Amino acid sequence: MSSVEEAIRTKRAVRRFTDQPIPEDAIHAILNAGRRAQSSKNTQPWSFVAVRDKGTLKQLAETGDFAGHLAGAALGVALVAPDSADRREWILFDLGQAAAYMQLAAWELGIGSCIATIYQPERAGAILGLPDGMRCDVALSFGYPATDQTRPGVVRPGGRRPFEEVVHWEQW
Ligand SMILES: Cc1cc2nc3c(=O)[nH]c(=O)nc-3n(C[C@H](O)[C@H](O)[C@H](O)COP(=O)(O)O)c2cc1C
Repeated sequence: MSSVEEAIRTKRAVRRFTDQPIPEDAIHAILNAGRRAQSSKNTQPWSFVAVRDKGTLKQLAETGDFAGHLAGAALGVALVAPDSADRREWILFDLGQAAAYMQLAAWELGIGSCIATIYQPERAGAILGLPDGMRCDVALSFGYPATDQTRPGVVRPGGRRPFEEVVHWEQW
């Protein structure tokens, strides 16, 4: 893959992975892309817990209603930030930036990924050994895409809303 444009255009959520491990240098590149992301006032509120242990990934997969894909990932990355009531929206926005950077960096390397919303952050915190005051609301699965990406029982609405519907010029 040769361009940012191509990565953005072709990237899809990948929830089923092969057993192939991700090489160390690719893991480092993914995590480093998240570290390089932009953030509100450059606060960089994130810390990343990189998880390869299958037992831990399985436990994490149970902390969200749609987090099952973590169980089959070669790498899980828990996005951790201060548990701040007054900066909550900005922190989540910042974590979204880091997530997107990591996912696009992975895609360029042929590595698929998917977000997992953590519905039980306290349970996730205990699994990950987070210190007091730190919280995990989102994690990412990474791995080489399996051929079959179907999800039984899920109708997968593909594609994106049309450009003309999304974009307004000068005023709404
Ligand atoms: C904030 C956010 C939360 C998400 N949470 C989950 C989740 O808990 N489980 C999951 O399987 N996918 C989750 N996703 C992935 C979306 O379902 C996916 O990005 C969307 O359906 C588009 O997929 P596509 O790029 O393959 O078209 C989340 C995405 C975002 C941006």
